[in-house]
Amino acid sequence: MDHHIKDIKLADKGRLRIEWAGQSMPVLYSIKERFRKDKPFSGLRISACLHVTTETAMLASTLKAGGASVALCASNPLSTQDDVAASLVRHEGIPVFAIKGEDTETYYSHILSALKHFPHLTMDDGADLVSSLHFIALEKWNEVAQSIRQWGHSLTDTDRNTLVSGVMGGTEETTTGVIRLRSMERDKVLQFPVISVNDANTKHLFDNRYGTGQSTIDGILRATNRLLAGSHFVVSGYGWCGRGVATRAKGHGARVIICEVDPLKALEAVMDGFEVMPILKAAPIGDIFCTLTGDMNAISAEHILAMKNGAIISNSGHFNVELDLPGLKRSATSQRTIRDFVEEYTLTNGNRVYVLGEGRLINLAAAEGHPSSVMDMSFANQALSVEYLAKEHQGLEKKVYPVPLEIDKEIARLKLASMGVEIDTLTPEQHKYLTSWEMGT
Ligand code: NAI
Repeated sequence: MDHHIKDIKLADKGRLRIEWAGQSMPVLYSIKERFRKDKPFSGLRISACLHVTTETAMLASTLKAGGASVALCASNPLSTQDDVAASLVRHEGIPVFAIKGEDTETYYSHILSALKHFPHLTMDDGADLVSSLHFIALEKWNEVAQSIRQWGHSLTDTDRNTLVSGVMGGTEETTTGVIRLRSMERDKVLQFPVISVNDANTKHLFDNRYGTGQSTIDGILRATNRLLAGSHFVVSGYGWCGRGVATRAKGHGARVIICEVDPLKALEAVMDGFEVMPILKAAPIGDIFCTLTGDMNAISAEHILAMKNGAIISNSGHFNVELDLPGLKRSATSQRTIRDFVEEYTLTNGNRVYVLGEGRLINLAAAEGHPSSVMDMSFANQALSVEYLAKEHQGLEKKVYPVPLEIDKEIARLKLASMGVEIDTLTPEQHKYLTSWEMGT
């Protein structure tokens, strides 16, 4: 079986960690049991470009139990857990192409290996797989990495058509990927339907908020071991992820400052009890900075030059473009790695600043990503969405679709049941009241 991982000898360690994660994923487990019987993916190939973590391993084995032939590559060069990759290869027979710390060319050559699987269904976290596939289909060679370009050129028109027309549909995990896919739909280049898993309530309300919230703080603490209590902690972006991080930082006793560009989000942050100000004002105050905007240069070189000596800068948004690292390098006189995941830059003004995890999502670079219990819901959405695509793709257009509401509610029901939480149901009288306009007082 073709694969490219760090070290197959890590497989047994990975298996134990996957087992540990699986204990907190009862919803996905119940789906896996049903898939094992129903085989919804019999004869189908799935290429997944996801963070290669213990939770993703649970998802991949769920899809395999459903009859799929799965190939997996990483959705970020720094997020791979090498022992998990090894375990999937050895114990599940799933081809994995991912090595933690891989360079950009290797990252794209791994995406290429997943594309060579000629998928019927795609799964993405950031839309790199689907966009690479589209670049080949549309012959936009300037946009793709060298290895993908070479392979694309070697394809005949028929191969290229098979690559695209063979896809029934795809799923997308994260906000940034959904933004890219909506642009593709708007530009009328999207070649198949995609379900935005991120937009499910059982995804972003929990994964982005509680998952990113906890694991981002975890990543910052593991990388730095600094005390949050009493520190000035600046969060750029008060979306679902940003509010999670801000709330957790506050819980640790940090004095949290929010930077936003959206007046509604900024107002919400004020009323949630946070200080709100522009990043240039926050720059000289902050001890620790974290961006979660999905935007580029949320922290620019100008902002970094205004920071105090010793400031710590991190990102937990999807791409490492949120920090202007090229600008920082131009404003620095020297650079050294001072501890794992901490790069020290001495600036032209004499100050030192510390960038965590090369500006890549810190919760996956320095910690282990979201806790399994929250990924249980995100990946239940993934599993049920690809099942839906396998069944319903013929009736769907080349658009970005939300997760069907029934799937979203079913996942919430299953999660509550797994937690032993019961809730009330509407009486017929209440149902009538809530669905009619005639009843007043
Ligand atoms: P969101 O759209 O809910 O929030 C983003 C916020 O950033 C918005 O309120 C927007 O107004 C604000 N913003 C945009 N540009 C800004 C700027 N220059 N300065 C200050 N604020 C700015 O998005 P969400 O769901 O919170 O996701 C944010 C990022 O995190 C995305 O890239 C997403 O893909 C990623 N993400 C990362 C995860 C992780 O594991 N680290 C998990 C889930 C999402």
